[in-house]
Amino acid sequence: MKLFLLFIIAFNMLFGAEVVKVGERFESSTKCKVCHKRIVEEWENSWHSKSHFAKDEYFAKSLKYVSRKSRKSLNAVKVQCATCHNPRISVTTTDEDYDIAAVMGLTKGDEVEQAVNSKAISEGINCVVCHSIAKIHDEYDKTKRGINRVEWTASGVMTGPYRDAKSPYHKVISHEFMNENPNKLCFVCHANDRALGGLVFTDMQSEFVGKKSCVDCHMGKKRRDVAATYQFNGKEKMRMVRHHGFKGGHTARMWKDALALKLKKVHNKLEITILNPQPHNIPSGFGSRELVLDVTYKKGFTILKEESISLTRRYMRKRNKPTIPHLATSQSKDESVRAHGKKVVKVALFKDANSVEVSLYYRLVNKEVRTLLDLKDEIWSKKSFITTSSISLK
Ligand code: HEC
Ligand code: HEC
Ligand code: HEC
Ligand code: HEC
Ligand code: HEC
Repeated sequence: MKLFLLFIIAFNMLFGAEVVKVGERFESSTKCKVCHKRIVEEWENSWHSKSHFAKDEYFAKSLKYVSRKSRKSLNAVKVQCATCHNPRISVTTTDEDYDIAAVMGLTKGDEVEQAVNSKAISEGINCVVCHSIAKIHDEYDKTKRGINRVEWTASGVMTGPYRDAKSPYHKVISHEFMNENPNKLCFVCHANDRALGGLVFTDMQSEFVGKKSCVDCHMGKKRRDVAATYQFNGKEKMRMVRHHGFKGGHTARMWKDALALKLKKVHNKLEITILNPQPHNIPSGFGSRELVLDVTYKKGFTILKEESISLTRRYMRKRNKPTIPHLATSQSKDESVRAHGKKVVKVALFKDANSVEVSLYYRLVNKEVRTLLDLKDEIWSKKSFITTSSISLK
């Protein structure tokens, strides 16, 4: 009996969070398309569908960088990051012995390798991640996120917003985190993102203010449409639904007017105020995002001088060497604009200028991290326009 208990303890240490296998009929979003076509297509265009390493260059290169610098095996790092990026993974932790075995080439084709390359996680954050959560443990320590914060429903049970839904394909249950309190669902992963050594580089939960919900802005307003095209008594049911695109920082047009600018001349300085009407900081969500202020000094139509100011955070490891957020042991001052707050930047006025134009942009990855990871796709360096303002100095 004692031996049996020991075995169970060891087993749990190796596998961490409880895994519930999702059956073939529910594993992939293509199975849902017959009845939820619109929703599946919206989701396919979202970044949740790209959270797997095969679909996101930045994530894939970060995994390799972390593995190389921390001397952990790539599979072990993949398992660790899957906590939030691929929560339906079948192995949820590995230990130091695994890394040793990996170096010795003893892990080829083993359970961990099968888990990280399995079809079950290839869709990233898909339907059976958000809709098969039975319980969110908000009482748990705030460091426990993703897989370690939830309990899964039995395979084929979908958690949804409606209290009276019936489906011929799957069971349904309703939950407060699908209707009254959806932020609880988002905070399962969008909170307390931390480096390997514990340094917290973003926490959308602690910075969040007000009563709005993430879904109000990132899934759009509720509107009338069908949730399923399946017909009951020859008719589809009309419902209040939202958009499953989860548009955010990666979509340039979302940035238009996300922040506001105010300019004021104070003695021989220009005071640039950035106002954030949103309920979370900007930048936020992940480290190494950037705001860029392009300042142009003019005399009439002639440009006298242009300067670019970067508002971003730097990440450091031992001996102040630059690194990526997940390996940082320290970080520079937080330059983000607080939720419902503002940030003031002062610049010296250029002699002879009689007007100044300031434009504000957003960038997904700052130059330091782009260089460290050798990111190639232009999406990471592209500037998304937010707003512009000018002032006459006459
Ligand atoms: C990141 C989490 C997340 C993912 C991934 C996700 N959903 Fe949802 N879904 C939600 C939330 C939250 C709601 C409730 C929205 C509301 O009404 O406020 C919802 C609502 C729904 C509804 C009710 C109708 C509606 O639009 O409100 C259906 C049906 C649904 N989802 C199916 C799917 C399918 C199918 C997929 C996979 C293609 C999917 N969802 C992926 C979070 C998610
Ligand atoms: C044969 C048709 C069919 C298939 C296939 C199907 N569903 Fe549904 N689903 C429905 C119907 C019908 C409803 C109820 C719609 C309503 O009441 O407006 C529903 C409702 C839902 C809801 C909302 C439940 C609630 O209580 O709010 C979710 C979430 C959902 N489905 C997810 C999925 C996922 C994920 C898949 C794929 C694994 C899937 N469905 C496959 C027919 C289907
Ligand atoms: C299981 C973890 C998880 C849950 C739950 C989750 N997200 Fe995400 N979300 C992620 C990850 C990981 C990414 C980054 C994917 C990538 O960029 O590859 C992401 C990306 C996003 C983005 C950025 C999209 C872009 O274009 O920049 C938005 C917005 C977002 N999620 C909103 C939400 C909302 C709203 C909810 C709650 C309804 C939610 N998420 C629930 C993990 C999650
Ligand atoms: C009042 C509307 C509003 C609400 C509520 C809201 N957001 Fe946002 N969020 C925005 C806007 C506007 C932006 C900037 C443009 C964009 O990316 O959509 C943004 C940006 C983001 C980004 C990218 C940030 C960056 O700097 O890279 C993420 C991730 C995100 N939101 C997640 C969330 C989550 C999670 C919640 C809930 C805890 C939430 N948002 C609530 C409006 C909102
Ligand atoms: C606590 C949950 C969580 C864990 C654990 C986690 N991430 Fe993430 N990660 C997120 C969320 C949520 C986002 C989306 C933030 C946004 O879009 O602003 C994200 C975004 C990212 C991005 C930016 C992707 C893009 O397209 O811009 C990278 C890179 C990344 N994570 C790397 C990692 C690595 C490497 C690990 C493991 C060492 C890891 N993450 C572990 C939650 C997590």
